[in-house]
Amino acid sequence: MSASPPPRRAGILGVGSYAPPQVVTNDDLAGRMDTSDEWIRSRTGIRARRLAAPEVATSDLALAAADNALADAGMSPSDLDLIIVATGTPDYPGSFPSTAAVVQEALGAKRAAAFDLGAVCAGFSYALHVGVQMVGTGANQNVLVVGAETFSRILNWEDRATAVLFGDGAGAAVVGPVAEGGYLGGILGADGSGGPLLNVAAGGSRQPLTCDGLAARANTVYQNGREVYKFAVKIMGEAAAQAVESLGLSTSDVDLFIPHQANIRIIEKAAERMGLPMEKVFVNLDRYGNTSAASIPLALDEAVKAGRVRRGDLVVLVGFGAGLTWGANVIRWSKG
Ligand code: ACO
Repeated sequence: MSASPPPRRAGILGVGSYAPPQVVTNDDLAGRMDTSDEWIRSRTGIRARRLAAPEVATSDLALAAADNALADAGMSPSDLDLIIVATGTPDYPGSFPSTAAVVQEALGAKRAAAFDLGAVCAGFSYALHVGVQMVGTGANQNVLVVGAETFSRILNWEDRATAVLFGDGAGAAVVGPVAEGGYLGGILGADGSGGPLLNVAAGGSRQPLTCDGLAARANTVYQNGREVYKFAVKIMGEAAAQAVESLGLSTSDVDLFIPHQANIRIIEKAAERMGLPMEKVFVNLDRYGNTSAASIPLALDEAVKAGRVRRGDLVVLVGFGAGLTWGANVIRWSKG
């Protein structure tokens, strides 16, 4: 899919995020598995992550982020006519019912249609692109786009190679019509041949969960870390540069680059490919780890609240994840 602007100009009217209060440091993890702060920090850049309490579901995090985004946009739930929740950890298996529908009810957004979107860590980039198209064509007026995850529920806490990487959280954006700037375009991509590199094998129609599957922890995240790393290093910079250049812009025009927060080494390589100094790259994975679909909107919200994004700035988001999938979004920030 190539970068092209929708017929009606659409942009981000408000952003918000929420992370559960429980902070789990690398040293905390080293107390329960064979790992160390030094290993995790030097390989990934992660120092801590947030974990949701047992009674907290993905929709609870999504709801808090949505409330914050609506407040930032100066809107109420009744202004929304569509809710998209990007998640790989829905409240219910198979998004049945969708987490977006749970959020719709909890918000009291009676006029809004609702669906979940599954592109795992690239989910927010995909959902933002879709939300913008819906506003751009006039099909919708105001769309709530959320990335929310409770990866702690699908981790094998006995697998140190994956358990240390992820955290829980949510971020949201309200998308609506804007007079100038806004979403300039984006790129979405997929390579299904890489599906086996990163997956949750059991619990779906391919391999329903059985007692044997449960004992083998086949309902938790499996990752071939080295192969995913190679893919990520290549695709992040490439997709972001392609999205920018296909709009007739140059990567040197980028004011702030907000990549999926998976690993600092992957982020540094992507910035290098873009020719961007790290001062133009927003990083918060040290405090949250990889929050999958939540990572980009959580970072975007923090960047906005920290004054790192000003009206007129060119902001580029890029995500990659299981599928394999990837997506990049180019935004001329239109909020003052
Ligand atoms: N603590 C200590 N040692 C560990 C840990 C740990 N937490 N995890 C693995 N090790 C050990 C391994 O057992 C191995 O030991 P060995 O050499 O004795 O066998 C050694 O460290 C090296 O392991 P590797 O897996 O080769 O480590 P690598 O340098 O590849 O780093 C990492 C692993 C950080 C996971 C890296 O591969 C990576 O970042 N991959 C990309 C992951 C990613 O971004 N995933 C997100 C995808 S997005 C989504 O959709 C979910």
